[in-house]
Amino acid sequence: MNMKYTFPEKGKSKKEILSLANKVKELNQDYTSGRVFGSMCSNPIDIARDIHKMFVEANLGNPGLCRGIEKLQGEIQRAVGDLINAPPDCEMLTTGGGTEGNILALWQARKEMGKGKVILPMSAHFSFLKACDLLDMEPVFLPMDDNYLPDLGELEDMIDDSIAAVVGIAGTTELGLIEPIKEMAEIIGDIHFHVDAAFGGLVIPFLKDLGYDLPNFDFEIEGVDSITIDPHKMGLSTIPLGLYYSRKRFPVSVESPYLSGEGQRTLRGTRTSASIPAFWATINHLGKEGYRKIIARCMENTRYLVDSMEVIGLDPIVEPVMNIASFHHHRPPDVVREMELKGWNISRTVNPNGLRFVIMPHVDTAAIDEMIHELSKVI
Ligand SMILES: Cc1ncc(COP(=O)(O)O)c(C=O)c1O
Repeated sequence: MNMKYTFPEKGKSKKEILSLANKVKELNQDYTSGRVFGSMCSNPIDIARDIHKMFVEANLGNPGLCRGIEKLQGEIQRAVGDLINAPPDCEMLTTGGGTEGNILALWQARKEMGKGKVILPMSAHFSFLKACDLLDMEPVFLPMDDNYLPDLGELEDMIDDSIAAVVGIAGTTELGLIEPIKEMAEIIGDIHFHVDAAFGGLVIPFLKDLGYDLPNFDFEIEGVDSITIDPHKMGLSTIPLGLYYSRKRFPVSVESPYLSGEGQRTLRGTRTSASIPAFWATINHLGKEGYRKIIARCMENTRYLVDSMEVIGLDPIVEPVMNIASFHHHRPPDVVREMELKGWNISRTVNPNGLRFVIMPHVDTAAIDEMIHELSKVI
């Protein structure tokens, strides 16, 4: 039965509220349980939690009130920019995550190019469909080749005067693949080329440091116009935090006369901004060295998962490039549901059909063993 919830007449004690909140929290699936394999986010480190709490009221929608956070915002933007070879004079905007970054990219492309078609690889995240709907742009889908990468021959055929933007992905949501960004940039010429590195942007640079031979995806490639990258995924920031970089200045700016500070240029106005100092604390506490260690462990665990899945007869769709591993399966929605009933969060792919696992820092080999034991009963 649906209970009617009314606005409370009288206040409850702090103790009562805390006890109620703790009960509600138990309904959430906690990363520390080791049972979450379907999320691209993880536990923030302790210092990030503390710093987030310290700045909980911060609001960069009114930047004149938050000069301190604005300073840290500049520092994190430049620090991540350093990892992706961002030109010193490029546009750097802080967002609520990959969805907002991808909307900004298409918004910018439509403004700059004055047209409305967007070429999306079949691997593109659904946030681009939201962006197209919102901006009244038309998505056209780029088929994949046998390796689940964009078909470059098809891309060549699809390019014409009506295209405002092409999207490439560094760390695809379903398979964790890095698309051939350099080759795509060469084909598309002057059309706005946006790279969605929401997940991979804070994985690939560290994997390269660790000696992995991976293709470039960033501003080192001349044809890359903009990049989305999410600290709240593998950057281990608190939520929400995304970064948007653009080689050209972002053309959308509105006057904000009743606020202190400059005009607003991002999608959101008033916004929670505590994740900025929290991420600043994370990168300063871990350093590149800390991220490398964490990512090296995630990759070892991903290998462990792939080897262990073989034992129960599940084949990887591709050899994992980063800490995402997906396996062929003919009825993923049922398996995901049955695992959920047993208290395990796993995810699925649709291109092609399969089961998907993101091996974030909260996943260890003991959790993998336990999960596979349960999975073997439902596949
Ligand atoms: C490649 C990619 N881009 C964009 C997004 C959207 O990010 P968010 O949920 O932070 O808006 C995701 C989320 O999974 C993603 O994997």
